[in-house]
Amino acid sequence: MENRSTTRLAIVGAGAVGSTLAYAALTRGAARHVSLLDVDRTKVEAEVLDLRHGGMFIPQAEIEGSDDVEVCRGADVVAVTAGAKQKPGQSRLDLAEATIALTRKLIPRLVEVAPDAIFLMVTNPVDVVTYAAQELSGLDHRRVFGSGTVLDSSRLRDALARHVGVAVGNVHANIAGEHGDSEIVLWSSATIGGVPLLDWRPFHGRPALDAAARSAISEDVVTSAYRVIAGKGATNYAVGLAATRIIEAVLNDEHRVMSVSSRLDGFYGISDVCMSVPSLVDSRGVAETIDTPLSDEEVAGLRASAESMRAVQRRFGF
Ligand code: LAC
Repeated sequence: MENRSTTRLAIVGAGAVGSTLAYAALTRGAARHVSLLDVDRTKVEAEVLDLRHGGMFIPQAEIEGSDDVEVCRGADVVAVTAGAKQKPGQSRLDLAEATIALTRKLIPRLVEVAPDAIFLMVTNPVDVVTYAAQELSGLDHRRVFGSGTVLDSSRLRDALARHVGVAVGNVHANIAGEHGDSEIVLWSSATIGGVPLLDWRPFHGRPALDAAARSAISEDVVTSAYRVIAGKGATNYAVGLAATRIIEAVLNDEHRVMSVSSRLDGFYGISDVCMSVPSLVDSRGVAETIDTPLSDEEVAGLRASAESMRAVQRRFGF
């Protein structure tokens, strides 16, 4: 990424996720220039107006919007949120056909106007869409990755923090695999306040973090999105914040460890599939995966998740 005075974030899709991502990125000052692309010109122009009207309350930024892909020209990061919306009861994989068809159209045009960008896929099913975007873009795989289970890991940390009674910032725990029904919790590498989670001794009066509690928390995390979608029609706040945090790690070259979705190349023998494992995120995109100790059960869970992703990839010719 060339050293420029202004950082440019292009967001594709001005629906619930894309507009929330724009709002989160602007309020956190993640980029100095934010552009929104959506096929619905009236909608995207209204989103831009509404965001601009908050200008005096947020860090200085230029905000643009259009139905023309030109609005993404020269972006440092392109975040793709456009795609089919998950309906109540639908799985993320059920969206694959519609979203991959859209990805086939979008990616070549986005690479043309932003050839030096880092591409962050957010649209679901994000792992398969990330794999498709890598193939369609022809770019270095590190520069095309997905938000993956960063959101799920945040849900896990929130649930653990509430259960044990500590600040969420003291919980370091990751979800890995598919951003979806086959995702797994990496219990063996999780820590609370620096203490290995599996050795955690509850504070007086707090519930234990035993196998039953861990199983209930895992189930709660994996099914979270279904409950939110059933209640309000979509998820947007947490995924918008997760994507913003990933974008900051790229634009600020943070070398931050995050469970993003990338092309695995021999991680515990898993290759030729995109899914989430703890990885280093910086201005190069996903620089590398972190050699994380896993239990036999976690390795088996990851391999099963990889098989599920590969089956969908093959269905769409990837
Ligand atoms: C969720 C969507 C972004 O998990 O897949 O909320």
